Amino acid sequence: MGKNKKNKSAQGSAEIYYPSPEVVERAHIKDYDSLYKRSIEDREGFWAEQAENLEWFKKWDKVLDDSNPPFFKWFVGGKINIVHNAIDRHLKTWRRNKLAIIWEGEPGDVKTYSYHALNREVSKFANVLKSMGVKKGEIVTIYMPQIPELVIAMLACAKIGAAHSVVYGGFSVEALAERIQDAKSRVLITADGGWRRGKITDLKKIANEAIERSPTIEVCITVKRTGHDVYMENDRDFWWHDLMALPVASPKCETEVMDAEDMLFILYTSGTTGKPKGVLHTHGGYAVYTSTTHKFVFDIKDEDRWWCAADPGWITGHSYIVYGPLINGSTIMMYEGAPNHPYPNRWWQMIEKYGITILYTSPTAIRGLMRFGEAWPNRHDLSTLRLLGSVGEPINPEAWRWYYRVIGHEKCPIMDTWWQTETGGFMITPLPITPLKPGSATKPFFGNEIAVVDENGKEVPPGEEGFLVIKKPWPGMARTIYGDPDRYKEVYWKDFEKQGWYKTGDSARIDEDGYVWIIGRIDDVIKVSGYRLGTAEVESALVSHPAVAEAAAIALPHDVKGNAIHTYVILRAGYEGSPDLEEELKKHVVHELGPIARPESITFVDSLPKTRSGKIMRRVLRAQALGQDVGDLSTLEQ
Ligand code: WTA
Repeated sequence: MGKNKKNKSAQGSAEIYYPSPEVVERAHIKDYDSLYKRSIEDREGFWAEQAENLEWFKKWDKVLDDSNPPFFKWFVGGKINIVHNAIDRHLKTWRRNKLAIIWEGEPGDVKTYSYHALNREVSKFANVLKSMGVKKGEIVTIYMPQIPELVIAMLACAKIGAAHSVVYGGFSVEALAERIQDAKSRVLITADGGWRRGKITDLKKIANEAIERSPTIEVCITVKRTGHDVYMENDRDFWWHDLMALPVASPKCETEVMDAEDMLFILYTSGTTGKPKGVLHTHGGYAVYTSTTHKFVFDIKDEDRWWCAADPGWITGHSYIVYGPLINGSTIMMYEGAPNHPYPNRWWQMIEKYGITILYTSPTAIRGLMRFGEAWPNRHDLSTLRLLGSVGEPINPEAWRWYYRVIGHEKCPIMDTWWQTETGGFMITPLPITPLKPGSATKPFFGNEIAVVDENGKEVPPGEEGFLVIKKPWPGMARTIYGDPDRYKEVYWKDFEKQGWYKTGDSARIDEDGYVWIIGRIDDVIKVSGYRLGTAEVESALVSHPAVAEAAAIALPHDVKGNAIHTYVILRAGYEGSPDLEEELKKHVVHELGPIARPESITFVDSLPKTRSGKIMRRVLRAQALGQDVGDLSTLEQ
C-alpha cells in the first residue's frame, strides 16, 4: 500500500489508502467494477462459473431455483460433498503433502497435518461415527476447545453425510443443553478441557451437566486434551483415542454423495427472541460461496499461510478456518489459547515463527492487543504478512490505523469484511485492489446487490442512516432456521416481503462514493467482543435464578469489547440487592451461558420502563445510562 499515496484530508472520512502496484500486480481480481457489473447482470452465470472450480459428482441442472421465495435453492440437481472438495480432491495432486493445518496449543505444543494426514484422521473418525450408528441427516453436536480434533470431527460428520452443530467452547451448561435439545442430537463430541490463560476450561464437566438436561444424548466421545480427572459414565462415555485405536477406525472411508441442497451444518446464533436459531447451511452453495469469497478477497495463493484467528465454533471459523480455506487447498494456522498468554506478543511470535502471510481477526482482538503498546509487535519480524482482515463489528478508525501501521507496516491492505452467520460468507468487503477508508467495509462482493432503505423500502440519500438490506439471493445464504421455517420467514423476510429483500438487522449508511459504513445492530442482538448474544438470552439466564423476578439487558459501549452487557434486575420478594448477590448473579449467568455473557453491571431496580403491551423499553434504559434524552415516552406504561 502506498504510504506516499496516502492522502488524508481535513475530514476523517476522506482518508483514503490506495493499494501499492505490487498488491495490484499479484491480485486475482484487477478490475472490480467490470466484474461486479457482469456478476449482477448475469448472476447465475457468474456463480455457475465459480461452481465449475469445484468437483461435482454430478453437475447441477439449474443454478438457482427461486420458485418458492424465500426458500431459494442453488445448484439444483447437483451432487457433491464439501469434504470431497476440501480434502479428497487435493490428494490426487501435489497438495497431498502440503500442510493443511499447523496448530499450536497454548502451552506451546505443536501439531501439523498434511492433507494426506488430515484425510487419514477424518476417515478414521468418520468410521468411528458410523460404528456408533451415526446416519446421514442426523445432527451431531460438537463442543470442543480449539484443537485439531474439532476440525476433524466436523469434517468426519460432513464426509458421511451427517450434519454438525458446533457449540462454541466458551458457552456453558444451559446454552449447550438448549442447542443439543433443539438438534435432538444422539451423539456429543467434546474434550476433557482446553487451555486458556494457563488454566483449564472444564468442558467435560459442563458437557456432563448439559447431558443431564438432554435426554436425547446416547453417546459422548471425549478427546483427552488436558488430562485432568473427569467423570466418564459406562456405556455412554468413550475416549476419542480409544475409539481411534480400534479396528473399526479404518483409514478408508468413502465420502458420501450428497445432494447440493443437503444439510451440511446448523449453527445456533442469537436473535431477538429467547431461543437461539439454528441457522442451516448446505453442501453445495456454501462450498461455492466460502471458497470463492476466500480466494478473491484474500487473494489466496498456494504459497500462503492463512491464519483466521477466530474460534471454529462461530461462523467465521466454519467458513474461513475450515471450509473455504481447505477447499482452496490452503495451509491454515490454528491456535488454542489467549492472544496475550503468557505475554502480549504471543500472536506476533507465531506470525514470525510460522511465516504467516495473512491474518484475519476481529476489532476487539486488535483493540485488546493495542493496549499493550507497539513494543510487543515491534520485537518480531512480521514481514511475511501481506494482507490483513477484520470481522465481527465495525472497526474504529483508530484501531484500523494501528493495525495497518504497526502490524501491516503500511503495506498490507485491511479487508474489513461485513457478513453474518446467515450469509455464510463475506457480503460487503474490499478486495486487495480497493482503495480503503478506515472503518468502511467498502463495497458489495460480486453478485450481491445491497441497499440502505427506510421502513418503507425507499432508498435513503447518501450519508443517511437506514436499514441494510440484500436484494438478491446468493449461494451461501442460510436456507432456513432448523425446524422453524416460519421463524426464518418472519425474522429475515417479512419486513420487506413485497420487495423480496433480506433484512440484515444492521443499520448502515452509504457515502457519496458508494462505500458502506456499518453502524450496528438495530435489534436486540449485542456484539460483545465480536461474539453475538441476544439480550433475551441474558435476561432468561438471570430470571432462572431464584432471586430474580424480572431482568433487562442492554449494550453500552466498551473500549475493548466494543459493547458490554449491562443489566437491570427486579428481585423477588424477600431478596435484597447487595454486592454479594450481584456477584452471585454474574456467576450464575456465566454458569448458564458462558464467560462472554458475564454482565458488566447489575443494577437492582423496583421497576422497568415498559410499553403498554408490556415490552421492556431497552432504548429508554440505554438513553438513561448514557445520560441522553430518553425521547418520546408516550408509549410508556404509566
Ligand atoms: C456485525 C459474524 C461491521 C454485524 C461474521 C452483523 C460487522 C453481525 C462486521 C453478524 C463488519 C460483522 N463491520 N459489523 N466487518 N462483520 N458485523 O452472525 O452487526 O456472529 O450483523 O457473524 O456482526 O454477526 P455473526
